[in-house]
Amino acid sequence: MAHVSDLIASDIGEYLRQHEHKSLLRFITCGSVDDGKSTLIGRLLFDSKMLFEDQLAAVESDSRKWGTQGADIDFALLVDGLAAEREQGITIDVAYRFFSTDRRKFIVADTPGHEQYTRNMVTGASTADVAVILVDARKGVLTQTRRHSYLVQVIGIRKVVLAVNKMDLMDWSQAVFDRIVDEYRAFAAKAGLADVTAIPLSALKGDNMLAHSERTPWYRGPTLMGFLETVEVDDAQQQTGAFRLPVQWVNRPHQDFRGFAGMIAGGMVKPGDRIRVLPSGRASTVARIVTASGDLPLAVAGQSVTLTLADEVDVSRGDVIAAATDPAEVADQFEAAIVWMADEPLLPGRQYLLKIGTRTVGASVTELKYKVNVNTLERLATKQLELNEICVCNIALDRPVAFDRYAVNRETGGFILIDRVSNHTVGAGMLHFALRRSANIHRQHTDVDKAARSTLKEQKPAVVWLTGLSGSGKSTIANLAEKKLLALGHHTYLLDGDNVRHGLNKDLGFTEADRVENIRRVAEVARLMADAGLIVLTAFISPFRAERDMARRLLDEGEFVEVHVDTPLDVAESRDVKGLYKKARRGELKNFTGVDSPYEAPEAPELRVDTVSSTPDEAADLLIGKLREMGLIQ
Ligand code: ADX
Repeated sequence: MAHVSDLIASDIGEYLRQHEHKSLLRFITCGSVDDGKSTLIGRLLFDSKMLFEDQLAAVESDSRKWGTQGADIDFALLVDGLAAEREQGITIDVAYRFFSTDRRKFIVADTPGHEQYTRNMVTGASTADVAVILVDARKGVLTQTRRHSYLVQVIGIRKVVLAVNKMDLMDWSQAVFDRIVDEYRAFAAKAGLADVTAIPLSALKGDNMLAHSERTPWYRGPTLMGFLETVEVDDAQQQTGAFRLPVQWVNRPHQDFRGFAGMIAGGMVKPGDRIRVLPSGRASTVARIVTASGDLPLAVAGQSVTLTLADEVDVSRGDVIAAATDPAEVADQFEAAIVWMADEPLLPGRQYLLKIGTRTVGASVTELKYKVNVNTLERLATKQLELNEICVCNIALDRPVAFDRYAVNRETGGFILIDRVSNHTVGAGMLHFALRRSANIHRQHTDVDKAARSTLKEQKPAVVWLTGLSGSGKSTIANLAEKKLLALGHHTYLLDGDNVRHGLNKDLGFTEADRVENIRRVAEVARLMADAGLIVLTAFISPFRAERDMARRLLDEGEFVEVHVDTPLDVAESRDVKGLYKKARRGELKNFTGVDSPYEAPEAPELRVDTVSSTPDEAADLLIGKLREMGLIQ
């Protein structure tokens, strides 16, 4: 933009002032490289001539290297550069590109277009105001177009541009454009996207990008840049919403100063405002808003600040400081939508970490209500959720958190799910509402407790968790160990896989999802029995680390004894007491552990018994010895 550069040259101060006061539009582009996404972004960046310095430098050095001059060549190089950068893949999930025009500043989240990159799209879209969905005029609306559009809706973006690109290759046919737009609008309406602006484009040639094209006299709508420059940004949730500060850290440089630092996730705050600290609910008043460049009279969403409070209230990292007049809700069970981003499926009952705002808690999906077919928007029943799938489900947390509905505030209503073992982000979620049961079910205090019950039995409660392959000897060893404990005068109970699967868990099979649920129930029962004061032995394959760790977390420190009954697969298979390995090898039994279903050996069990070098009786003695060593029995 010529006069912008003039202004930069003549009055940099005035330029910066204008620049400061320009509004910011965040948008995301969805579509694949083939649809012309790089060209489109390149065109926007190039024509605005406000590339970030490194991008400019790269283009310049490239053009020097190739000895080329002139705008068109530079443009081509820029596009190639963008595409190449993206194809290097892996390291770049989402590239945020900045540019600006006379009227507005822009941040575009540029995400790779392949189906499996849903994760990147979700990351890029979570703060966007507008989504530009690209279709190739030759191909029309594809599955990917529908998937992206549905995701855009789930993520809460309400304004969509349908950029029908490569119109030059379809002779600028209005009929082609209208057909694509009609088909898209029908889908968008079903998906809940009401605000769609369709634009016929040639990103390569620049038609309808900045100026109206002579080749589409039939088109009366805005150009792409015209739309992006003028579309109203609905930042209601941010600045005019209720005040929210998820506390990132507690700043205590000395005895007399206690500040609560973080980025404001909604509304605004001034000294003197009444606030509530959540989830505890304690109330106080804002004393000061401290920043590196001095105290502020007012701060708004998006700013990073440190608040001090008038009273000595307990605030810790992860709490939310909220307007007392309109506090966030607090709950530990929700309905939510989840977008799954991991190769391993989401399994109900499995324990994940859930990060909402600055707080991380334990979480599991208690009920998968349905997943959505992105093509037809049909709701499908399912037992697990695969990569890139989207579901609506119920979630239970291990402690209450402060939240807003995602529709009200994306920051305080959005969350991610993290795998407990790998620490990878495996899902992104949007809270719909708290389940009423969460507010209506309280823990009941009982006067007779675990200590009282076990003291009467003159023993310490414990859960001895045997894990290993089918036929490894878990049941045999557990059975012998229980007899020995009984002989020593202990009160015990043995939970055995085959038995429990005839009763409590007879509705479960051997899919991963069912095994997770099998172990979740067994762990809960074992916990109840330990609470009754018993020494509980369990003999289940329990093939997954995640669920064994969950069982461990249900018990107090030192009460859980993981025993790996370590029998190599070939040995267990050669014993084949129940003939199941043979069946599995013949393909008559599906999902058999060690054959076509995984077993994750414990990494640090309390005890490992080798059933090749020791007899079952010796193994049981080792186990009793371990309980003595841990002080669980005399
Ligand atoms: S777990 O994986 O969910 O922990 P569990 O210990 O309850 O399994 O049940 C394992 C027992 O079920 C095995 O000892 C075996 O007798 C029987 N079984 C039947 N089908 C399978 C299978 N597909 N995989 C493993 N065990 C099976």
